[in-house]
This record gives sequence, structure tokens and C-alpha cells, in this order.
Amino acid sequence: MSKPIAPEIDHVLFTEEEVNRRIREVAAEISERYRGRDLKLIAVLKGSVFFLTALAREIEIPIKIDFLAISSFSNKRGAPGIVRIAKDLDEGIEGEDVLLVEDIVDTGFTARYLLQTLSGRGPNSLGICTLLDRTPRRIVQVPVEFRCFEIPDRFVVGCGLDYKQLYRNLGYVAVLHPSS
Ligand code: IMP
Ligand code: MG
Repeated sequence: MSKPIAPEIDHVLFTEEEVNRRIREVAAEISERYRGRDLKLIAVLKGSVFFLTALAREIEIPIKIDFLAISSFSNKRGAPGIVRIAKDLDEGIEGEDVLLVEDIVDTGFTARYLLQTLSGRGPNSLGICTLLDRTPRRIVQVPVEFRCFEIPDRFVVGCGLDYKQLYRNLGYVAVLHPSS
């Protein structure tokens, strides 16, 4: 039986089934690409944790995971703040193949900052894997190795993405009612 859609939701962009199917496909690509190497997935707290765990469970090669937290994003969408590491990784990444797992790459500021910071720590390789890619709002160019979905210029919630810290636990990606 499928779960009811939350009343605050205007429309669903990607259903739980579509999200899970794409995650399986991308996990298969990643397993193929990194077989025989030392892959580490790094998730940015909190939004990317949902995607990281879903992805990790579908990847068929041994992996490590680590987390970092940044402070930057105010609730108002738009103007990118200054990005800063609020919680660093537990371990170094020297010589490892690192995939930065993101919930969404929007303006690109966060991703660029993290790529610059992590590349200084001597990984063997460093790439981005994002659940959502909103290219129409990109301001700085960042290379995105793996993406599940491209999305239009609408604010979305679910699958880890929040509005005022809510809706992260929705299994689908959705646009809120304009009044929310
Ligand atoms: P960027 O630095 O502009 O690429 O922004 C990335 C961060 O902004 C993401 O990791 C999210 O935390 C947040 N963000 C951007 N767009 C959305 C959205 O549509 N819903 C929820 N959070 C968003
Ligand atoms: Mg985020």
C-alpha cells in the first residue's frame, strides 16, 4: 500500500519508486567505476545523509563513509553565504578515491568550496555524486560525476532536503504549496 502524500505538498517531482530506481542505477555505475579501488563516500550533514545511506546500500564494492558539516545556508534561498566547515571529517583521505555525496548542487558554491578544501588533502581522486542537480541556478561551475536527477528552478523538499528543517524524511522529492 502506498503512503499518503503530506498535505503541505503541492506536487511530487519524483516518487519514492523513481528515486530508488535511479539510486540503484547510479550505485551500479559507481560499483563499476570504482571496483578494485579504495572508495570513500563523504556526506555533508544533514541533508545528504539520506541519499548516502540509500546509495551505500546499493553499492556492490567495499566502501568507507565519513561525514562533515558546513555552515552556510540561511533559510532564505538564493544568496549564497560564506561556506565554512563546522564539523570536519573523522579521518584523512590521502590516497583514497573520494566521492562527495550531495543532496543538491544548486549555485555550486558549497560544492566548489568542498572540492577545493578536500583536494588539498591528497586524495587519489575526488568527484561529486548528487541526488539532484539544478543547473539553471548554477553560478560557479563544478564537475558533477554522478547525478540522479536534473531539476527545474523550484525549491524542493524530501529525500534529505528540508524547508526550515522539516520534510527531510519524505521518501519522494516534492515542491511545497506556495503558502507553506
Ligand atoms: P549551493 O551552495 O547553492 O549549491 O547550495 C547547496 C545547498 O543549498 C544544498 O546542500 C541545500 O542544503 C541547500 N538547497 C539548495 N536548494 C535547495 C532546495 O531546493 N531545497 C532544500 N535545500 C536546498
Ligand atoms: Mg545541504
